[in-house]
Amino acid sequence: MSNDASAVPPGDPPPVVGDAPPASSSSIVPLLALAPLFLLYASPLLFRLLGRILGWSLRKKTDGRRSHLLALMTDDDKKARGSDSKRASAPKLVFDVDEKLKATLDSQKDWSGIVGFFHPFCNAGGGGERVLWAAIRATQDRWPNAKCVVYTGDHNVTKDQILSRVMHRFNIELHSPTITFLYLSKRNWVLPSSWPRFTLIGQSIGSIILAWDAFSLVVPDVFVDTMGYAFALGLCRFLFPKVSTGAYVHYPTISTDMLESLDPKSAVGSQGVNAGKGVGARGTAKKIYWQLFASLYTWVGSSVDIVMTNSTWTQAHIMSLWASSRGDKNKTDPIVVVYPPVAVREMEQEVEVSEESEKQRESVIVCIAQFRPEKNHQLIIQSFAEFLKSKSEASKAARLVLIGSVRDDHDKRRVYELRLLVNELGIKDRVQFHLDASWPEILEWLRKASVGVNGMWNEHFGIGVVEYQAAGLISVVHNSGGPKLDIVVEMDGGPTGFHAITSADFADGYEKALSLPNPLAVRKRARESAKRFTEEEFAKKWTVQLARLITIAA
Ligand SMILES: *[C@@H]1O[C@H](CO)[C@@H](O)[C@H](O)[C@H]1NC(C)=O
Ligand SMILES: *[C@@H]1O[C@H](CO)[C@@H](O)[C@H](O)[C@H]1NC(C)=O
Ligand SMILES: *[C@@H]1O[C@H](CO)[C@@H](O)[C@H](O)[C@H]1NC(C)=O
Repeated sequence: MSNDASAVPPGDPPPVVGDAPPASSSSIVPLLALAPLFLLYASPLLFRLLGRILGWSLRKKTDGRRSHLLALMTDDDKKARGSDSKRASAPKLVFDVDEKLKATLDSQKDWSGIVGFFHPFCNAGGGGERVLWAAIRATQDRWPNAKCVVYTGDHNVTKDQILSRVMHRFNIELHSPTITFLYLSKRNWVLPSSWPRFTLIGQSIGSIILAWDAFSLVVPDVFVDTMGYAFALGLCRFLFPKVSTGAYVHYPTISTDMLESLDPKSAVGSQGVNAGKGVGARGTAKKIYWQLFASLYTWVGSSVDIVMTNSTWTQAHIMSLWASSRGDKNKTDPIVVVYPPVAVREMEQEVEVSEESEKQRESVIVCIAQFRPEKNHQLIIQSFAEFLKSKSEASKAARLVLIGSVRDDHDKRRVYELRLLVNELGIKDRVQFHLDASWPEILEWLRKASVGVNGMWNEHFGIGVVEYQAAGLISVVHNSGGPKLDIVVEMDGGPTGFHAITSADFADGYEKALSLPNPLAVRKRARESAKRFTEEEFAKKWTVQLARLITIAA
């Protein structure tokens, strides 16, 4: 196995390099003295050679299976296409394609290689999986002959079960003949429970083992990791230099914030589970361990050809670690943000934004969020009370509507406390709670309301805020995280909402949002802004990057 080998950065001497033994004969002294130097010089070469040999033997072992799979999929596809003439027609995900991309796509239209997706938990049904399926759909749409292979550890589900779940859960229809699931048997190696100590390194070694497992099944032409296993991509580069690698990063495995959080004096030193633990001998050891891991992560990450991140926040963190070691790649293929797709189009169909619909809007501020502590409903209620106290014209008819799901007794208790707070503040007749509202009810409120509010600090993204925008609501959001960096930004030279931190800021935000001279213009901009998160926009960005990966692999 290559664990040890790949844990040694190139240029560093491998463990075999020792001091030259004391020489007895003067004639061989110079030669012996040169030996370590020679090894030192040759070690990156030897390291590479080892990779080539291992890669070559893996390929040899799996070539038969590869041809068999390709033949099978091509055959199935031909049969399916014969009976379904729609498949041969134009792409379903329509977006504008510039000259350069068009030329590339034309030259690749018959590409029939294998894109391997490394996603050991593909049946989980979360946000990460939505990205995986949307990526496969976009791939099938523009490269009809490409074969998609998903490496998964979900043994207890069949292909048909997975595909039908994708259809129901995400409303994504995949073309079954050109997709294959290959089952990994060593998934337990990446579970945190397998590595109670040194989890970071442990899981990374685990992902190398799991990737080896994957390559023992089939070696792809393009290898994409959609779960954050950078070391799996590193192994691919080590074994198969010609296979292009792509990463879709949701969250950095280690971040500069984490490194700083160990230091009690730093700005983030008082936050997080490891806050301020960087003191004493244990602390120093931990710091060294993290720093060591960070340099390994950087070394592996900077070998990846194409890097996509799911948000500006992640992009910034990945850049601060990987960008400087990527060399020319940082220029030719910069690290880009590819936002996960949100069901914006459905919202556009359900909620009207026009002169006509403007008459139905009321001075209602909605907050759609689970009743969890970090959502900070308290801040929203307090700021709303402050806003009412101002007795401004805009506040006279204002109402606050809190919509959210209640999952357990803790949530119930929080709702109870929030109701108490509303009573205490004397604004009971202006605040409504809607627990576990149905989708049609939520849509009804999105048609009626004027403003959408989000009070969470440092929310990574905020799909709810995108939905506000898609529904034409004017957003008042916390001045941090995704809502600030990615979502509530200027559009066509004008604002789409307001940012706030303190309860006075929020009250001010409501005042501004409810007293706009031309709210419809802002609503239209907000809706325009939400278009950046559509399925088509995702497909477009994905297509650009996959085209590069295919070019590099060819
Ligand atoms: C498959 O196994 C996982 C746990 O490993 C479980 O959560 C899931 O419900 C199972 N799915 C089916 C369809 O049996
Ligand atoms: C990116 O991934 C992280 C981790 O899963 C998640 O918290 C965040 O909301 C995601 N961002 C987007 C834009 O979906
Ligand atoms: C990498 O490229 C980005 C622009 O895409 C630039 O902002 C950054 O400074 C570059 N980093 C390095 C280390 O060259």
